[in-house]
Amino acid sequence: MALLLVVDDEIGVRESLRMLLKSEFEVETCPDAESGLELLTRRTPDLIILDLVMPGRGGMDFLREMRARGNTIPIVVLTASNTVDAAVGAMKEGAADFITKPFETDALRIKIRQLLERGELEREVERLRDEVAERQQLGRLVGRAPVMREMFRTIERVADSRSSVLITGESGTGKELVAQAIHELSPRKEEAFIAINCGAIPHSLMESTLFGHERGAFTGAGEQKVGVFEAAHGGTLFLDEIGELDPSVQVKLLRALQERKVERLGNPHSIDVDVRIVAATNRDLEQEIEAGRFRQDLFYRVNVISIEIPALRERREDIRLLAETFLARFATDMKKKLRFDPEALAAIERYAWPGNVRELENAVERGAALSDDEVIRLGVLPDAMVSAGRSERMREELRTGSTSFDETVARFECELIREALERQAWNQTRAAEVLGITRRVLKLKIDRYDIHPPGSASTP
Ligand SMILES: Nc1ncnc2c1ncn2[C@@H]1O[C@H](COP(=O)(O)OP(=O)(O)OP(=O)(O)O)[C@@H](O)[C@H]1O
Ligand SMILES: [Mg+2]
Repeated sequence: MALLLVVDDEIGVRESLRMLLKSEFEVETCPDAESGLELLTRRTPDLIILDLVMPGRGGMDFLREMRARGNTIPIVVLTASNTVDAAVGAMKEGAADFITKPFETDALRIKIRQLLERGELEREVERLRDEVAERQQLGRLVGRAPVMREMFRTIERVADSRSSVLITGESGTGKELVAQAIHELSPRKEEAFIAINCGAIPHSLMESTLFGHERGAFTGAGEQKVGVFEAAHGGTLFLDEIGELDPSVQVKLLRALQERKVERLGNPHSIDVDVRIVAATNRDLEQEIEAGRFRQDLFYRVNVISIEIPALRERREDIRLLAETFLARFATDMKKKLRFDPEALAAIERYAWPGNVRELENAVERGAALSDDEVIRLGVLPDAMVSAGRSERMREELRTGSTSFDETVARFECELIREALERQAWNQTRAAEVLGITRRVLKLKIDRYDIHPPGSASTP
């Protein structure tokens, strides 16, 4: 039976609707917007009948809040016959239909049935659309490039097993996030996910970190300590930067992986552990093997499934999606409304991002924090990015023949001057000094290129 929610402050209306509809539908009622919204956190009605005029938060408020939550349940607005304007306003906010009070019972029933049928159809279409839709997200991972979608599928496929996974990729490409996604999608998700950074732990402490130790097992070993293998029992152990492991520890790690047992230092008794290993590295392990720094047998153990995350510059279609995703997140965090200026977005898309997603995330955060209005402009992005973007764009235009050499050189000169002036708060003497030209030459060029501070009229 379809569930209807009636939100109306008049008990008479609520009860008559209940009587009228209960033979055909399940009916819930709420006396105000607050309790209606609260009910929506627990139940999902198929349709809502909403009074517009109520004490406290009115029906319009209810509507907006619902839509802001992304809730698309169809809503029929109830309105007195002399306030049809308000009903039309409500439909602009996304209400599906309206009914004037006093209502005619048959007309009301028919309207409800029609809306429910339409809803079912729409949901079906939606479902089909979702199925074919290009997947752009997996857990906290965002990406639309074909290589990333392929990676999402791999993660989903391998999450179920307990085979070891080796994740490779440059710094900042999201290796840790991938490791977490594997854990979150696995049957182990309720158990521990323990991450250690093999490069950050001193060699001398690595063994006891992995396997634990008994009290006084070695000089400096205080109280008994449980190692990460034991702590991750039943769950996932993420060995970040595995390429940094000391060869002596590599042997012991290999043994633990083969035997699925560990021994605490200072205790010969071995303990069974059931741990899934996910390892990551930004080194080329095969090269490390050749150089004798990484054990081949350990590599095979760890690299049962390999996931390679491409650098951000190799999947340019993700840059914009990621930038917009981060911006939306920072905007919510900072309680600001934020969007990119097209020029800033273009620079972001053109930049090479040697620090990959991490660098992009930081640049967007910085831009969001520094911009004092809603728009993120080129000026609040890191300098290197801005100039790299500019020169890249000019080169591109020259290559494609859309500008001439002379014009490109002139534009570059013009931008250098503008940049120097902006940095020196439009003080020409100081800008000339920075550029290493005389003030007179600077003035000539300013006139030639008609450079002036934003907002001010050009100098005559
Ligand atoms: N595909 C992605 N979608 C959303 N956020 C991402 C994605 N990839 C990376 N990030 C974010 O970028 C940052 C860096 O990611 P992460 O720490 O996983 O990188 P890493 O490969 O482990 O880097 P490093 O080698 O330097 O440790 C994190 O804040 C992470 O949330
Ligand atoms: Mg990392």
